Amino acid sequence: LDNGMMRTPPMGWLAWERYRCNTDCRNDPENCISEHLFKIMADRLVEDGWREFGYEYINIDDCWTAKERDSKGQLQADPDRFPSGIKALADYVHSRGLKLGIYSDLGNFTCAGYPGTTLDTINIDAQTFAAWGVDMLKFDGCYSNSTVKAIGYPKMSAALNATGRRIAYSCSWPAYEGGLPPKVNYTLLGDICNLWRNYGDIQDCWESVVSIIEWYGNNQDALQPAAGPGRWNDPDMLLTGDFGLSYEQEKSQLAIWAMLAAPFFMSNDLRTISKEAVDILQNRLLIYISQDRLGIQGKRIMKSHAIEMWKRTLVAGQYAVAILNKATDGMPTPFQTSLALMNILDCTLGYDVIDVFAKKNQGFFRLNDTIYLRVNPTGIVLLFIKPGC
Ligand code: DGJ
Repeated sequence: LDNGMMRTPPMGWLAWERYRCNTDCRNDPENCISEHLFKIMADRLVEDGWREFGYEYINIDDCWTAKERDSKGQLQADPDRFPSGIKALADYVHSRGLKLGIYSDLGNFTCAGYPGTTLDTINIDAQTFAAWGVDMLKFDGCYSNSTVKAIGYPKMSAALNATGRRIAYSCSWPAYEGGLPPKVNYTLLGDICNLWRNYGDIQDCWESVVSIIEWYGNNQDALQPAAGPGRWNDPDMLLTGDFGLSYEQEKSQLAIWAMLAAPFFMSNDLRTISKEAVDILQNRLLIYISQDRLGIQGKRIMKSHAIEMWKRTLVAGQYAVAILNKATDGMPTPFQTSLALMNILDCTLGYDVIDVFAKKNQGFFRLNDTIYLRVNPTGIVLLFIKPGC
């Protein structure tokens, strides 16, 4: 969507994967969906340096509203969990130099059963969000059919635009239609949405991450051309700092998401996250690759047994290449390749090859020199490749 927003993939924090629909503020006040949680995470984004790395969105997901709309028919925040209201929360988030995202659902209810946005309340909800000073809307798709979605997603895009406030627009539409053409029209999506979920929800385990990577690789011919500045495929939230992934697996997810030019929305507890997790989420070269301004989504260029290789074209003749080892046991797999085998040939002199997570320059390679790597089980080697020309 050419609304001037998200010219590179958005970065920030989103509540859902880690905090779900925890509304039990009486017994779990530090983790329930409440203004307290979002203010705390906003504080952490600023005070722990995340904002400087580009993590700027703080996003609410399902379960923030009261059980009913107010007397004027507007959505309202749950009065016990958000006593100051969303406008005050947006003001707070803005005062910290961040942006606030909110959630609604095109349908009779949200997925968790809260009031939804129906076709006749799209305009009023868009205006409410704009009046509150919201900067992004995730528009989910439970409890509506394909016909309603085909009307409602474009209609919300127009309604947001008509508010006069710049509000980034995340559409869950394709995820509810199988994610692929001909049912999904990616040209239309790119015109009306800044990002969109294509596939099922991520869960906090390696199998889930692998299934997402497989789906994006298998369907890349349909998906890859859809992405570009202002329009991104969204394979869902980052799990780094949660419970289900090992350190190797966290790096694998981050690297593939960077190859996919995917949004970087963490869903974790920034109060207790480990130093190792912070280090990989704040890896400068990883973020540089993910935020490349050409916005060309990478592709899987090789797959053989458990190993697969992904490649992304970056500005100034640079590339990123990731070698993923999906074997779940055994020793680190030796892997030999070369720039020529990666089809990186423009600079005949050769390239500097840098291991992004090891933060190590592997040396200068001519096109046919062998690059020797070892890739840990369920791990990845992410290379940044810089021309010597
Ligand atoms: C389904 C979405 O795909 C999730 O990301 C989350 O927003 C839930 N709905 C909330 O109910």
